[in-house]
Amino acid sequence: MNLKLQRLPKNDQLQAWDAADTLLLEHIAEKSFNQVLLVNDTFGALACSLTAKSADIELTSWSDSWLAHKASEKNLAANQLNANWQALPSTEVPTTPFDAVLIQLPKTTALLEQQLHALRPALTDHTVIVAAGMAKHIHRSTIELFEKIIGPSPTSLAKKKARLIFPTVDKSLTPPTNKSSKTWSDHGLRLNNLANVFSREKFDIGARFFIDQFSALPPADNIIDLGCGNGVLSICAAQHFPEANILGVDESYMAVASATENYQQNIGDDRARFTTSNCLSDIHDAAADLILCNPPFHQQHAVGDTIAWQMLRESHRQLQSGGELWVVGNRQLHYHSKLRRLFGGSRMVASNNKFVVLAARKR
Ligand SMILES: C[S@@+](CC[C@H](N)C(=O)[O-])C[C@H]1O[C@@H](n2cnc3c(N)ncnc32)[C@H](O)[C@@H]1O
Repeated sequence: MNLKLQRLPKNDQLQAWDAADTLLLEHIAEKSFNQVLLVNDTFGALACSLTAKSADIELTSWSDSWLAHKASEKNLAANQLNANWQALPSTEVPTTPFDAVLIQLPKTTALLEQQLHALRPALTDHTVIVAAGMAKHIHRSTIELFEKIIGPSPTSLAKKKARLIFPTVDKSLTPPTNKSSKTWSDHGLRLNNLANVFSREKFDIGARFFIDQFSALPPADNIIDLGCGNGVLSICAAQHFPEANILGVDESYMAVASATENYQQNIGDDRARFTTSNCLSDIHDAAADLILCNPPFHQQHAVGDTIAWQMLRESHRQLQSGGELWVVGNRQLHYHSKLRRLFGGSRMVASNNKFVVLAARKR
């Protein structure tokens, strides 16, 4: 790709596009479109390439990732591409009739299911639909999902380990019920989870172990739930500290929407607010004296600790003096050594054979 593309968070070890992007772009190279919906364009590789080819093209980027939208904006600007580009959060539904819908397959089947159901009404007989993914992630069940919700979906051969799917709309088809959202009850909580929310089907065992330690939390007035997911840590913190203000942040639009709804259903007061952010880099006025964090260990399909590092670093910056970061993690992730570098040390609050809960105080 003849473009300067960077991931967000910046990671020079990993490319900001994959062979599926390249194969999709090769496939449509000879075609020209006016209005295109880009679904899950992770770092803006599709937006940048299409704008570089035709400056007049109108692009809507529909994604659950706030980071994906920010990365697309940054990459368009870095390549001096004055794009006709707009971001559409996953919690809204695309309505414009598009002449092409280009889909990067998402990591979870549940998100794909939700997206195909939401897309179907905006598709016409003339919409060109192309989905791209790495062959190892395209299963028989992936193709069946397209066939059940959209219509016949032939596929390409694999090239450089990527493959394309070419769904066509069958207007006579009655799609099955959309089962992508899940509600579960546990620990006296009832939590609704939109399709792409972490621990959508059941209580995460790390989060459960973390919550079991909440009786040992230090008193706090302003609490941040960093990477809030469905809001479970915020809700339990609100039960422990009936006077505290709570700010939950997540880069997933669906997580922020689920956390907002779950807080209202389970607590129902106005002490908490939930917002999209890249870790804490967009938060400036929180005056936090306690940060709770169950960090992610992957971004899309890439496993790594870049985001966890960023969360710990920005927690240190954000905390008031004397404030504490409480973090839960798999034992082998060795967060204690990161906390030693950032905070000068940490104490172990609890551990079992899988997880450890650590607390680090800002001096
Ligand atoms: C392991 S989950 C924890 C969710 C919830 N707190 C719990 O304990 O069940 C990590 C969360 O971090 C979010 N996340 C990932 N990258 C992020 C980023 N750069 N900024 C903010 N949140 C992020 C994910 O969307 C996910 O909801």
